[in-house]
Amino acid sequence: MAGLKIQNLYKNFNIKNENIKVLNDLNIHIQDESFVTIVGKSGCGKTTLLRILCGLEKQSEGSIEFIGDLDESNIKRKVGIVFQEPRLMPWLTVEQNMAFSLIKERNKDLAYDRIHKHLKMLGLENFKDAYPHQISGGMAQRVALGRTLCHDPEIILMDEPLGALDAFNRRKLQKEFINIFLENKKTIIFVTHDVDEAVYLGEKVIVMDKGSIIKEIPVNLDYYRDFSSKEFLEIREDILNLFFK
Ligand SMILES: Nc1ncnc2c1ncn2[C@@H]1O[C@H](COP(=O)(O)OP(=O)(O)OP(=O)(O)O)[C@@H](O)[C@H]1O
Ligand SMILES: [Mg+2]
Repeated sequence: MAGLKIQNLYKNFNIKNENIKVLNDLNIHIQDESFVTIVGKSGCGKTTLLRILCGLEKQSEGSIEFIGDLDESNIKRKVGIVFQEPRLMPWLTVEQNMAFSLIKERNKDLAYDRIHKHLKMLGLENFKDAYPHQISGGMAQRVALGRTLCHDPEIILMDEPLGALDAFNRRKLQKEFINIFLENKKTIIFVTHDVDEAVYLGEKVIVMDKGSIIKEIPVNLDYYRDFSSKEFLEIREDILNLFFK
């Protein structure tokens, strides 16, 4: 059980004595076991928000309240993040990189099963012994995704995890995210700048612009969604129109 409540969140950065306002009074309620997507243009503050949520960055003002049995002592274990870039360890193989998050797992059978389930799901079985420099950028991103999924956090933060993938793998993994969500009932916060992806995946789409939330849109369509249905296209247009008024 894990949700979160963000209240009056601000983030400013200081560069050479200049105060840059990056996040401006964000208020977000993310329910337990929900799939929320955050969409917005480059530089609107999406990564900064995720970094604050997983404790890598401190907010300037405002509060984040985790709902459920989450607190500062277990946040690292229960909140997992897939970064925008893979950040693999070059001296470890694909399999070892994925196993890294399970290093403390005492049940070795469980660890093995989890790693192999995700290697298969991500289409990486034949590359398990390869090193990061021997695989493509999209494959590296899938390994990074596998590493976080193997760790099995309660809240998964994803920062454009499919940005480096080709359209075919992207579509396949979008479906897998829905499967992961439906089967494991995780709380997923998924950042993207692809409006179609945001509407395809999210039960709620949060639209950001220049550090603020400009709209929250519930998507009351069953999974798996039809990209070309009237309802889908209407929501997509609603979002795009926010930027082209
Ligand atoms: N550590 C930092 N120090 C100073 N400024 C920063 C820092 N991190 C981010 N910023 C600034 O905050 C703003 C938002 O950056 P952020 O990375 O959150 O955007 P984003 O929405 O994730 O963009 P993209 O879609 O390109 O990944 C940018 O103007 C960026 O320069
Ligand atoms: Mg970013």
